[in-house]
Amino acid sequence: MYNIAILASGNGSNAENIARLFNQGNKIKISLVISNREKAKVHQRMESLGVPTITIPNVMWDNEPMQVVETLKKYNIDLVVLAGFMHKIEPEIIHAYEGRMINIHPSLLPAYGGKGMWGHHVHEAVIANKEKKSGVTVHYVSEEIDGGEILMQQSIDLEEGETAETLEEKIHKIEYDLYPRAIVAAVDRLKNAGSNSSEQASMSQDSERQKAEAPSKTNNSVDVDEAWANDLKIKFDREKAEEIQRQQCQSSQPDSGQSMPNPIPRMNNYGGRASIQPNEPMPPTYLVWAVLATVLCCFIPGIVAIVYSTQVSSRYYAGDMEGAKRASKRVEIWVIVSFVLGVLSATVIQPIMMLKGLI
Ligand code: GRF
Repeated sequence: MYNIAILASGNGSNAENIARLFNQGNKIKISLVISNREKAKVHQRMESLGVPTITIPNVMWDNEPMQVVETLKKYNIDLVVLAGFMHKIEPEIIHAYEGRMINIHPSLLPAYGGKGMWGHHVHEAVIANKEKKSGVTVHYVSEEIDGGEILMQQSIDLEEGETAETLEEKIHKIEYDLYPRAIVAAVDRLKNAGSNSSEQASMSQDSERQKAEAPSKTNNSVDVDEAWANDLKIKFDREKAEEIQRQQCQSSQPDSGQSMPNPIPRMNNYGGRASIQPNEPMPPTYLVWAVLATVLCCFIPGIVAIVYSTQVSSRYYAGDMEGAKRASKRVEIWVIVSFVLGVLSATVIQPIMMLKGLI
């Protein structure tokens, strides 16, 4: 059994398609889904399939990449599959899973790849440039954005009146067909690398492409049947598949502890879902101090202004016109002082004091 971790940040329709498909077979298992967003829809999708999900916050992806690698190792992950993962992956993680991390991109790379080219931006650019073709690429992840070795591609002809929206829909359908086959190809490579590394070295990328271009059954209902399993080279044993399914349903509640054969350290239960805490302590928050200082700076001169305000009316009714004018002038001054101190406190004094560690 090959263990796969899917990384997804948002909707997770590819993740769901992949998990539904493989977790009914007995060769490849989606053991873990990791998101960088607590509220990503992919969590719900996986809950209904009984696949454990965890959230690893962006701060950890950036500052503690080895902790991410550690987590993947704890789950004995063989292949990492990116499906709409929208955060930078640090080189340490890429190197730890070199040749074992793939991504899907909604264009025919190298066209329409690189920074800023994701989701609808890709399709809008394709339409704006009046391209005749677009497609989907599955590639290995390297340090260069969308620049790793291409594993599989599938193209589509654009139709008259095609829009970014219609294209996106068609591309998604292709993804549901292509990605599972690319995963099987990637696992095949791992298998070959394990059994005969020289064989793996000579494995031609063209033969993988031919496989991708061969007509395949498009199955939008994504139920695994024997034909699909055959197409994907999964040995399909219905009884065993059902047994696996039963076991998964029983043991894959992320919070039960059972679903994690090697429970990862420092898991916490944030918002009802498993999440990982960074090693570093949370930086102090200055919000309370900021509000307090601003209120005080405005408040004290404000009180003085109010006191002088009362004098304006009392002097006026007492017939002391000069005194009323003087009090009114003071009110003006203290209102301005209150305003200036408030602004200074919020914009200059507090940041300086914080920098000096005074608050
Ligand atoms: C897909 O279009 C994929 O090509 C891109 O992100 C999108 C993810 O969609 N990398 P979904 O979240 O799987 O629906």
